[in-house]
Amino acid sequence: MFTNLLAFHSIFRWLVLAALFATCILFVYKHFTNKILSLKDYRFLQVVCLILNIQFILGVLLFSKSQLALLFWDNFQETVKLRQPRFFGLEHPSMMILGILLFNCFTFKIRNKINTKEAFTYFSKRFILILIIILSSIPWSFSPLTHRPNYRSLELTNF
Ligand code: HEM
Repeated sequence: MFTNLLAFHSIFRWLVLAALFATCILFVYKHFTNKILSLKDYRFLQVVCLILNIQFILGVLLFSKSQLALLFWDNFQETVKLRQPRFFGLEHPSMMILGILLFNCFTFKIRNKINTKEAFTYFSKRFILILIIILSSIPWSFSPLTHRPNYRSLELTNF
């Protein structure tokens, strides 16, 4: 169960990244063509929100089953000095929750600005912040701090 959840959370990260990348493209395009935020654009942001929220649910489920997170909270005094348990028990979940929460809040707030140019200026500044929070909290395979593989295969025999 845990290994499949971990693999799914890991694979789903690529969908999250694709959605964030597509949001970037949308903003750059709209900015340079001087367009307004349409209802279609808003619906697109809601889909991105949904993808992030699914990853959030997967993360919470994983957190409840993770030995690393459990070890961290059970032995806080000692493990707070250790990179891996601190990252997966505290830093990664809290930063991701913050990023996802902000994306939800700003998407909700922007609905009053549909069909205005102001909407893109409002959202793009905040979106950069969200992007920094999420991208810096992923355990990339090339990270010198805490790294995990870029791809994990699902053990379908367990289903
Ligand atoms: C945008 C949101 C998120 C992304 C992109 C993301 C990405 C990842 C990645 C790539 C891994 C490594 C998987 C592997 O070992 O192959 C991971 C592990 C983990 N994530 Fe997330 N995550 C997100 C949100 C969350 C949230 C909100 C939580 C908890 C509330 C969470 C909890 C965890 C835990 C506990 C692990 C490690 C479990 C273990 O190895 O024991 N994640 N995450």
